[in-house]
Amino acid sequence: MKRDDTTLPAPTRRHFLRLGICSALALGAMPLAGSPVLAAGKGEGVLVAYFSYSGNTRTIAEMIHQRVGGDIVEIKAVKPYPADYDACVEQAKQELSANAYPQISTVIPDMGKYRTVFLGYPCWWGTMPRAVFTFLKTYSLNGKTVAPFCTHGGSGMGSSEADIRRLCPGARLLEGLPVRGRSVKSAGKTVDAWLQSIVF
Ligand SMILES: Cc1cc2nc3c(=O)[nH]c(=O)nc-3n(C[C@H](O)[C@H](O)[C@H](O)COP(=O)(O)O)c2cc1C
Repeated sequence: MKRDDTTLPAPTRRHFLRLGICSALALGAMPLAGSPVLAAGKGEGVLVAYFSYSGNTRTIAEMIHQRVGGDIVEIKAVKPYPADYDACVEQAKQELSANAYPQISTVIPDMGKYRTVFLGYPCWWGTMPRAVFTFLKTYSLNGKTVAPFCTHGGSGMGSSEADIRRLCPGARLLEGLPVRGRSVKSAGKTVDAWLQSIVF
C-alpha cells in the first residue's frame, strides 16, 4: 500500500532537532560540531580552560571544545617553563614545595558569563601545575560547574580534584577525566563517554 504522506504532519525544524538528539544518544556518541544539538545552542556558557606543557592536554582540550562548543583559552605562565624537561620537572617541584602562585598571562574578560568550566591540565607531581592554582585563585569558579580533565603518565587525577575542591568550595565539581599522555590521540571515544556520563 502506498503511504499517504498527506496524513502525516509536515516535519518541522523541531522534529529534525529531536531526531538528531535521539540519533546521537542512540549511537552512544556525543554530538560533533555542526550537529543539531550544537545548533540548538550547546556551548553557551561553556569555557574550556587548559594548561599544557608538551601538548597532550591541549589535544584533549580541543577534542572537548570541538564537541561542546563555547570558548577555549590556554592558561599560560608569564615566565614560560623551561623547554628542557628535567629543568621543568625541577622547577615544578620547587613551585609545589613553595606553594608558589606563578603569574599567568591568561585574561578572561568576563568569567561571569560561564556556567560550566572544563578545566584541563597535566598531572605534575601528583596534582595540577601551580600555574593552574594561580588561575583558580585569580578567577572565582564559585557557583559554576567544574569538569576537570587531566593527562598523566600513570598518576591519574592524583590529588588534583581534592585541590580544586579546596580552592573552589562553592563550585559543583564533576567527576574528572584522566587520560594517559600516550593515549591522547586515540582518546576520542573516551572523551565522548565521559561527556555523556556527566551532566554539565
Ligand atoms: C613537571 C612534570 C611533572 C610531572 N609529574 C607527573 C606525575 O606526578 N604523575 C604523572 O603521572 N605524570 C607526571 N608527568 C607527566 C605528565 O603529566 C604527562 O606527560 C602529561 O600528559 C603531559 O601533558 P602536557 O603535554 O599537556 O604537558 C609530569 C610531567 C612534568 C613535565
